[in-house]
Amino acid sequence: MGQRVRKQHPVSLAVQPQTPCLWTADPQVIRHVLCSYNYVKPWEVSISAARVVGDSVLVAEGEKHRGQRSILNPAFGAIQIKELAHIFVQKSLELRDVWVEEIASQGGTARLNVLDGLKKTTLDVIGLAGFDYPLEALNSKGKPNELNEAFTRIFTKTPPLSLHRILVSIFPFLDLFPDERNRRVQEANVVMRRIGLKLIQDKKAAILRELGNKGGNIDKKDLPGRDLLTLLIKANMAKDLPENQRLSDEEVLAQIPTWVHESFTWTSVFELTHHACRPWCLFALTQNPAVQQKLREELLAVPTESPTMDELAALSYLDWVVRETLRVHAPVTWTMRSAGIEDVIPVSEPYVDRYGKTQHEIRIAPGNRIITSFLAVHHSKAIWGEDALEFKPERWESPPEKISEIPSVWSHMLTFSAGPHGCIGYRLSLAELRALIFTLVRAFEFELAGSPDDVIGVGMFTQRPGLQSEIAKGAQLPLIVRPYVRA
Ligand code: HEM
Repeated sequence: MGQRVRKQHPVSLAVQPQTPCLWTADPQVIRHVLCSYNYVKPWEVSISAARVVGDSVLVAEGEKHRGQRSILNPAFGAIQIKELAHIFVQKSLELRDVWVEEIASQGGTARLNVLDGLKKTTLDVIGLAGFDYPLEALNSKGKPNELNEAFTRIFTKTPPLSLHRILVSIFPFLDLFPDERNRRVQEANVVMRRIGLKLIQDKKAAILRELGNKGGNIDKKDLPGRDLLTLLIKANMAKDLPENQRLSDEEVLAQIPTWVHESFTWTSVFELTHHACRPWCLFALTQNPAVQQKLREELLAVPTESPTMDELAALSYLDWVVRETLRVHAPVTWTMRSAGIEDVIPVSEPYVDRYGKTQHEIRIAPGNRIITSFLAVHHSKAIWGEDALEFKPERWESPPEKISEIPSVWSHMLTFSAGPHGCIGYRLSLAELRALIFTLVRAFEFELAGSPDDVIGVGMFTQRPGLQSEIAKGAQLPLIVRPYVRA
């Protein structure tokens, strides 16, 4: 089953040649680095992120970061995400209907670049779930939507490799002088800011109106509204929040593009692309037709096309397929930290250094860079066994004990990183992925249009599917899609 995984692009880095840099796939070292505020995002990454997402959790460090996360965390909790389930299912059904129409117009079987529809669905979901704003990316009905246009301009284009971008990778300060693309980002940011601030003010006014008789004395439990922004504003207005922890409107505003951005990808100096769990899942299913059919049978046994989050979570084979996709095809393949202190890092196993001496730890100086490779951990035969590179959902029936050594926020995997900067949106992401795969695999059969050897990962931090033979086109995943007809 699943004898191949996609080829990886070799990782090239923005690290200055003179900066000592440790590359590691040792779970113990990764835990030490990612689970501590002593290791921070490198300054060039923070500057670049700040330009796009402003003063948000993506950029903050230390106490400031801890404070922002404590206000944000409740909005991303299990109960809150469950309340948004209907949005994930509704938008998945809309995508299904768009594809049904397209397939009919192409005579019963269509060749679709599935990235297009998936990208629009993500935008719509984050618009509704994030701030109760219909972006209508999937189905605009011909109406212009200013905010959708701004987000699309900022987040969904993979910029071509330009001289400017190459120079920025060598001299990061040049990132402060915008090229054509950065200018477009700045323009779109103006639109986003204007609409974002208006949304915040309207929501605040609505909350106060509804609780008029309580004035500013708000308890988190009796506040209306389900979208993440309303929950965040409520948490921020709660009377039990110490004054010095309250976010300004600017800081609240900064979280919005972070969510949109993060639903698309992790930020980086070089690329702004949408994240890629869903297309990789569909790709894996095309490479493993028996898995695709077994999954479909489980999904078709569900008597409704609009399941609840609990019903989706109870589907064990779907759960295994999702875990296996996020293991083999983790979209964020690595991350980097800069040491803020002099440190000694313990290692899982002794190693021999370049002078032939056996070492049991690694000495780190302030400013040294550490690259933690998520994909190397996920593909390690020492951890997962000889079949580590195979796509095998069944492995999750009894996963190897060794995976408990991997630091994580979910499922003993680094897909969503680990530690204080671990992904805040992982529950949202998983819920959305389950709903989408549920709807699409029930409705369609998927086959790869072309050769699997042509499919590669495109991007540096975040890898999306693309074709080696059409590399200039950037990310794409052309699939042959036909309606599934039950025998
Ligand atoms: C499959 C989808 C996703 C993946 C694979 C993913 C992965 C990650 C990873 C690896 C990080 C840590 C990066 C680092 O520190 O170096 C991260 C951080 C983050 N993610 Fe996600 N993410 C996903 C979806 C989302 C969604 C949907 C949201 C919100 C709506 C979100 C919000 C965030 C935020 C706010 C951070 C920064 C957290 C912090 O620094 O405190 N993510 N994500």
